[in-house]
Amino acid sequence: ETRPRTPVIWLHGLECTCCSESFIRSAHPLVRDVVLSMISLDYDDTLMAAAGEAAERTLEETIEEYRGNYILAVEGNPPLNEDGMFCITGGRPFVEKLRYAAEGARAIISWGACASYGCVQAAAPNPTRATPVHQVITDKPIIKVPGCPPIAEVMTGVITYMLTFDRMPELDRQGRPAMFYGQRIHDKCYRRPHFDAGQFVENWDDENARRGYCLYKMGCKGPTTYNACSTIRWNEGVSFPIQSGHGCIGCSEDGFWDQGSFYDRV
Ligand code: SF4
Ligand code: SF4
Ligand code: F3S
Repeated sequence: ETRPRTPVIWLHGLECTCCSESFIRSAHPLVRDVVLSMISLDYDDTLMAAAGEAAERTLEETIEEYRGNYILAVEGNPPLNEDGMFCITGGRPFVEKLRYAAEGARAIISWGACASYGCVQAAAPNPTRATPVHQVITDKPIIKVPGCPPIAEVMTGVITYMLTFDRMPELDRQGRPAMFYGQRIHDKCYRRPHFDAGQFVENWDDENARRGYCLYKMGCKGPTTYNACSTIRWNEGVSFPIQSGHGCIGCSEDGFWDQGSFYDRV
């Protein structure tokens, strides 16, 4: 309670803002407690009250005052074609703003598929050359928290861990927190007994779909997707895509847009 709140700068590049939409719905911990008691969200183009020059001044002041101590959270990615002209923020290419803010950061969190891997804007033929954060910033520790978007409690869980233990969480070979991305959706899926028994949905509206059989033959990517959806679930643990009747499309995996995730049947 006496420790000063850790400053956080949250930038938005090419993205859809649903990582923020997910984040603000965290229930454990409540996002209100994270934002008001744990971190000091000094700059966030989307959530802050200030705009225009006042906002940009806040960014500069935060960087100068907390150089080496703030966490940089990045939602979205920088497009590099045509000198970054496909994403202008604060009057300059986002890639410049990213490099400027990254230089004094203690660590960087890449939120979601956009920042971690590129996501839909980097899908072939990637006309803007949208590029994941770690390929632009190479001299800072980076934590990837993939998903489109990531689970709210995974996002606040990563922040809580960093502030509580004052260190990075253990990362896997791809730079993701092992505690949330150490298992496949398939490993803990409640439909797994049907997979093991060879009981599959063959059409979206068949009898087996009504019985809740395995969605593997409908293209479910749970067997190759590392994420916590089948354990933590979404909306305060209420459900996740497979529970609502649709297979996993592998939204937390690198390049899922180009890997036949959408409605490719087995
Ligand atoms: Fe939106 Fe997905 Fe990108 Fe997050 S990762 S900003 S949800 S497109
Ligand atoms: Fe695995 Fe998907 Fe079947 Fe679940 S629905 S058991 S994740 S293949
Ligand atoms: Fe994404 Fe698959 Fe979870 S589509 S939300 S990783 S179940």
